[in-house]
Amino acid sequence: MNPTDRPRRLRADGVRSLVSETSLSASDLIAPVFVDATTDERVPIPSMPGHERVPVSEAVARVEEILDTGVESVVVFGIPESKDSDGSRAYAEDGVVQRAIRDISAETDAYVIADTCFCEYTDHGHCGVLAPDARAGEGLTVDNDPTLDLLAKTAISQADAGADMIAPSSMTDGMVGAIREGLDSAGHEDIPIMSYAVKYESAFYGPFRDAADGAPSFGDRRHYQMDPANRREALREARLDVEQGADALMVKPALPYLDIVREVRDSFEHPVAAYNVSGEYAMLHAASEKGWLDLEATALESLVSIKRAGADLILTYFAESVAERL
Ligand code: PBG
Repeated sequence: MNPTDRPRRLRADGVRSLVSETSLSASDLIAPVFVDATTDERVPIPSMPGHERVPVSEAVARVEEILDTGVESVVVFGIPESKDSDGSRAYAEDGVVQRAIRDISAETDAYVIADTCFCEYTDHGHCGVLAPDARAGEGLTVDNDPTLDLLAKTAISQADAGADMIAPSSMTDGMVGAIREGLDSAGHEDIPIMSYAVKYESAFYGPFRDAADGAPSFGDRRHYQMDPANRREALREARLDVEQGADALMVKPALPYLDIVREVRDSFEHPVAAYNVSGEYAMLHAASEKGWLDLEATALESLVSIKRAGADLILTYFAESVAERL
């Protein structure tokens, strides 16, 4: 038997890159930054090697380190000085994220995306205000509609501070519409919304919840984040956000949900982002520390695969280390 069709011909060194179907560049990547109002110095995050919480005074320096690698965009998360039941430090004019974003946008060329959510700001750790009868074990925790006004207020305060894009991650029904209306009424018609449209209730967020101190103090996020078993529901969530004016759609996590990334890519014209979350980062680090995986190779392969699945943008803790090698 003499095969006439030999795919191996195109795998030789010189031609391999010529026929490569997917490219990854630093401008596809968004680096997360954690700004912490409770510290005066940088604090390493143990479950996310190479990442730190930085004080507001170090926010610009931290972003400059990222820009030096070729990455052009950051998504900013805040750890407030105090928490309360409404998460009021999320929308304070002098809140940690507002102060950091004001500095970053004044002093750097970074494209600044604000994560808009309450879990880091509420004393109960849920992503909005609690329903009066909220209890563990019975599903109901966040009161949907009262949370909408606060999300809009938070987004406006972030845009006022200089955020270039708003990324709501609370999985509140109607959040994109409420934020769009709020931004428009405050004169921020040109600020785009990248919705965490398809966000699963995932155990892969574990290290982030340490990093941002946002674990729920009771119950879980099952009644607002999606069931990992669901695929049609992802399209419904994405459609609702498109109808409410989302400019870009995010799928989160990324690697265990590449089928969903592809599905959203094929069903909508909007740019698709994927969040390569903290657990996806931590597991490669842990395996490489044991000598079981090659960290650089698996990180790069992960990001190329997320793009191949259909993502245009990737939020990833590997942004700097991978960009440096591109
Ligand atoms: C806030 C938010 C979370 C993440 C991003 N924004 C935590 C959560 O929903 O529990 C997770 C990111 C990661 O794990 O890297 N709602």
